[in-house]
Amino acid sequence: MQLLDGKLLSENIKAEIAAEVDLIRERGGKMPHLAAVLVGENPASEVYVKSKIKSCEQVGFKSTLVRRPADIPEGELLDIVQRLNDDPDVDGFIVQLPLPKHMDEEKITLAIDHRKDVDGFHPINFGRMAQGMPAFLPATPYGIVEILRRYNIETSGKHCVVVGRSNIVGTPISILLSRKGYPGDCTVTLTHSRTQDLAAEVRRADIVVAAIGIPEFIKGDWVKPGAVVIDVGINRIPDATKKSGARLVGDVDFEEVAPKCSHITPVPGGVGLMTVTALLLNTLKACKKEIYP
Ligand code: GUN
Repeated sequence: MQLLDGKLLSENIKAEIAAEVDLIRERGGKMPHLAAVLVGENPASEVYVKSKIKSCEQVGFKSTLVRRPADIPEGELLDIVQRLNDDPDVDGFIVQLPLPKHMDEEKITLAIDHRKDVDGFHPINFGRMAQGMPAFLPATPYGIVEILRRYNIETSGKHCVVVGRSNIVGTPISILLSRKGYPGDCTVTLTHSRTQDLAAEVRRADIVVAAIGIPEFIKGDWVKPGAVVIDVGINRIPDATKKSGARLVGDVDFEEVAPKCSHITPVPGGVGLMTVTALLLNTLKACKKEIYP
């Protein structure tokens, strides 16, 4: 069994990005600039946004954090989005989800200029991705694709079973892996909470993508020997042996599954770090106007 080391890959990719930023600086070009909007005090969102800002610093990007309390009116958030759309110095920005309940996430996502939508959540980017046109790919699927590519995992003709059909992960990764090219050309089964005999579906997989948000959901006897397992889950579970009283686990029961598979992403240290790195890749593409010249 080989670990798919998201930490090592992230460090390599960040070094590549930092080298590009140095070149841009030497040529007197415009520094890549990512803005993040954080509304409210969701503890997980705080962690993710801090990690995004810190990663920007590591590669030499400019970053801006716009923070607002949970009770701002939706119109104020729409104004912030408009201001970022119009700011020529901002190459790309994200509005961290989930938003407070009184806000319509769909409306906010639609208000973001798709040319600055480095999260790849806008339907224009999603539609372009689905048709194989240049697009900002959503960060987690983009991170998964980079893991497969950089570890030279064979995908052509393989049966990939995706567990979970979210707009952010399950649905887009199922599209990306079914598309022509590498990594892709998979036969994809997209499973979800209404799937009958989920274990039997997962047992057929050469590649499993677990993105269902349930701790240690995928068990050892669900996985075909030699399968490649990509664990997207980040779940905090109680653990009295830890100082914090909790630890992070994925959607895969690592102890049971790891001995059976050819490759597996650990949690932490797998997909999560690659998600942030993929956001940096999108921001660099936005700055270079690679997707939308
Ligand atoms: N919430 C959970 N994942 C994400 C993400 O990738 N981007 C944003 N904006 N919010 C999230």
